[in-house]
Amino acid sequence: MNPALRHEYLAALGLQSWVSRGTPAPCEAAVAPEPVIAREPVIAREPVIPGDSGAGREAGVDWPELRARVAACTRCTLCNTRTQTVFGVGNPKADWLIVGEAPGAEEDRQGEPFVGRAGQLLNSMLRAIGLAREQVYIANILKCRPPGNRDPTAAEAAECLPYLEQQIALLRPKVMLAVGRIAAQNLLRTEVTLGRLRQQVHRFGHSQVPLVVTYHPAYLLRTPTDKRKAWEDLKFAREVCARV
Ligand code: URA
Repeated sequence: MNPALRHEYLAALGLQSWVSRGTPAPCEAAVAPEPVIAREPVIAREPVIPGDSGAGREAGVDWPELRARVAACTRCTLCNTRTQTVFGVGNPKADWLIVGEAPGAEEDRQGEPFVGRAGQLLNSMLRAIGLAREQVYIANILKCRPPGNRDPTAAEAAECLPYLEQQIALLRPKVMLAVGRIAAQNLLRTEVTLGRLRQQVHRFGHSQVPLVVTYHPAYLLRTPTDKRKAWEDLKFAREVCARV
């Protein structure tokens, strides 16, 4: 990526540009040159390996079938209040899967994840590591908006997670990026705080997809001082992706 453009993206994150000190191994052709990070990605000695429901291994479900199942879903009461389901968006052959929490008001209206203010920041975060929104796949733990943007209940997450597992089985991403506490804790089946889950390589599901945790863009809009840490997480995830 040209340095001026990269500077612009980092500025959009509220961060100063860094000066490159070396040539990293890019995960994808579009990855920007970045400073060499001295520290190796810490592969957790005893990685958290949450089991999955097995839904991802169900044979014969393709994208159109899965999309239709989600659109018709009545597994929880959120079907009564949603405008529409929010399935997910992006490149079905993406290396990266970004997982958020649940649709908000704008996503419920448009039927696409991360289209509001948090989505704009997510796009900038991705661009800062050389990824266009169209290159990745973006989905949520929940496919329907919880009224008033309340947190998903455990039951709602449990009912909805099999859809995400099926998306993961179809995508077979190289890396998953869980944005925010709700996504991280539901995917990893833990109550460990987000601060303690960052900067480790976790593994998700049967296929042991590497999973990295960072802050939710909505949180970063409220707490811009943590954008620097999110930037570290994104570079960490990119290194993990490059090693797969
Ligand atoms: N926040 C999320 O976690 N997901 C969205 O799709 C939008 C906002």
